Amino acid sequence: MTAGLVVALWGPTGAPGVSTVAAALAGELAAAMRVILVDANLTRGALGVLLKAAQGGNIVSATRFPAPRGAACAPGQLQDHRAGFRLLPGIPGPAQGLSVEPTALAAVLDRLRGAADLVLVDVGSRLVVPPAGMAAAGSDAGSGHAAALAAADLALVIARATRLGVSDLLLQYPLLDQALARGAGAGTAERWCVLNNGSGRRMRTDEGRVTGALGGRTDGEAPLRVVAYLPHHHEAVDDAEEQGLPVTVARRDSPLSRAILPVADRLAAAADRRRAAP
Ligand SMILES: Nc1ncnc2c1ncn2[C@@H]1O[C@H](COP(=O)(O)OP(=O)(O)OP(=O)(O)O)[C@@H](O)[C@H]1O
Ligand SMILES: [Mg+2]
Repeated sequence: MTAGLVVALWGPTGAPGVSTVAAALAGELAAAMRVILVDANLTRGALGVLLKAAQGGNIVSATRFPAPRGAACAPGQLQDHRAGFRLLPGIPGPAQGLSVEPTALAAVLDRLRGAADLVLVDVGSRLVVPPAGMAAAGSDAGSGHAAALAAADLALVIARATRLGVSDLLLQYPLLDQALARGAGAGTAERWCVLNNGSGRRMRTDEGRVTGALGGRTDGEAPLRVVAYLPHHHEAVDDAEEQGLPVTVARRDSPLSRAILPVADRLAAAADRRRAAP
């Protein structure tokens, strides 16, 4: 059995671009490895809409229908996307009122690990973290998000590269930290930060604010490292949306896609390291 790398992509409130970056990384890496993209934003699943997914399975049915022995989910849940990865769509819009049991979500992610080299999980911003020593429970979407983070090997934090975006990140980071501390690695999972949708003018200032506030901690806590700064590029995300494709597939030559490449390379290397581990 293979042991794929589970990466949770999370960002604070303010729609910093988590879904855009998650889809872009899936599209970029699909040619090199087996990638599964999971929409676990339980308040506003966007990937099915953004990537024009067909009708079929989703995160709710995948957590509720029993998986056959040796399979990650019931038949028909994972969709083959034309960009080359497999997609487990979410539930669009908060009006659906469907809930996902946090432990069932963690169990699905763990099974998907055995079916891919890389599992990219789009996690919603709301976090409800259980008290220490307790398993996540309840129907609040925030509990599901916290469980998805706890199940991950690596957290990729997307923050909007603006004064407000960085402020949102710094204010909400302690909750993320608590959610990761509930994981099997007790908070030792690596954390990378991507600043997105920036103008370039404040690049150094925004990076400095994140690393200054969160990067230097050494008290046994994994620091948050800024690994990329992605430019605002309306035209490329517009084209991608129109075509229902990741931006790295629809507009591979765009400045946005080019800036995402080093993050994809880092993830590929992390997935290789995990595969090679005994
Ligand atoms: N680098 C970028 N350049 C231009 N537009 C961008 C960029 N990144 C994201 N966007 C746009 O910002 C909006 C929010 O992006 P997205 O839906 O990916 O955010 P999110 O963090 O997943 O939000 P939510 O909290 O709703 O899940 C979208 O309209 C998207 O096209
Ligand atoms: Mg989203």
